[in-house]
Amino acid sequence: MLNLQNVTKKFTGDLFTQDFVAVNDLSFNLKTESVTGFLGANGAGKTTTLKMIMDFIRPSSGDIVFDSILGTNQMEIFRNIGFLPERPYFYPNLTGREFCHYLGKVSGMNTGEIKRNIDKWAPIFKIEFALDRTIKNYSKGMLQRVGFLVTLLHDPKLIILDEPLSGLDPIGRKELKSVIKDINNEGKTVFFSSHIVSDVEEVCSDVIFIKNGSLFYEGSVDKIIRENSKNDFTITAFDSNDLKHIFEVNLNEKDKKISSLMNEGFSIYSIEEEKPTLEEIVYEVKSK
Ligand SMILES: Nc1ncnc2c1ncn2[C@@H]1O[C@H](COP(=O)(O)OP(=O)(O)OP(=O)(O)O)[C@@H](O)[C@H]1O
Ligand SMILES: [Mg+2]
Repeated sequence: MLNLQNVTKKFTGDLFTQDFVAVNDLSFNLKTESVTGFLGANGAGKTTTLKMIMDFIRPSSGDIVFDSILGTNQMEIFRNIGFLPERPYFYPNLTGREFCHYLGKVSGMNTGEIKRNIDKWAPIFKIEFALDRTIKNYSKGMLQRVGFLVTLLHDPKLIILDEPLSGLDPIGRKELKSVIKDINNEGKTVFFSSHIVSDVEEVCSDVIFIKNGSLFYEGSVDKIIRENSKNDFTITAFDSNDLKHIFEVNLNEKDKKISSLMNEGFSIYSIEEEKPTLEEIVYEVKSK
């Protein structure tokens, strides 16, 4: 869907500030029809990367190549992308509905199409009730929902969201995560940045993880968890007096332990692999 090839962004300093390399020789491939999480600590370079993808700022070197599914020229490509910035601007005196119509018109849609898409997405975002109120009275969660809706209005194939879940309460986060899954089920590719690792683990098939502007990991969420798993197992068994026992073994000892327990008259209740969470893996990386 999208390919970054050795992208570097250097912000040039002046008399008082030094040059700063925010993104350093970054290459990755965003898989078509995936939900990919873009992880990295504060200041890792996520927003800078997304801004370069959106052509708001230019890389100092390297290339950003879009798949032909998105189009063959710049205009067509950007029509097929929906982008929600980290700090979107909303016109405070418009109602949510007017704001949607305004941005829909700007992206070349007609009134009928805009109405149809508002009717389609507003119930999914649970924002219908607020669409006719002025935006200045919206809560953070309402703003985020309208921002998200506007991102989808022109039916893009690739949705890029910069911290779409930040500042939402747990229910709001849960609801928007479920919308992310829904839009992916429609065949759309979703790329979103976050530093809430458990959110990424929950909704993403893939992850791109950067550290100090450089790629740290690119691949499937399952794979990074598997690769970091220590192959430890917990066996829970009951003895003949119905007392519960827990045994920790590694992969090599597992089968032998199970058969010896059975020979000793234990009944095996469960065998669970101790998998690290993505959060634990990321935390370990950050503190290295
Ligand atoms: N215009 C700029 N001039 C100089 N430095 C910049 C500029 N924009 C960003 N930076 C620096 O680049 C680094 C990366 O910033 P960026 O906003 O991309 O991080 P981020 O990963 O999005 O962080 P966060 O999770 O806090 O949103 C930061 O150190 C930031 O101060
Ligand atoms: Mg950011």
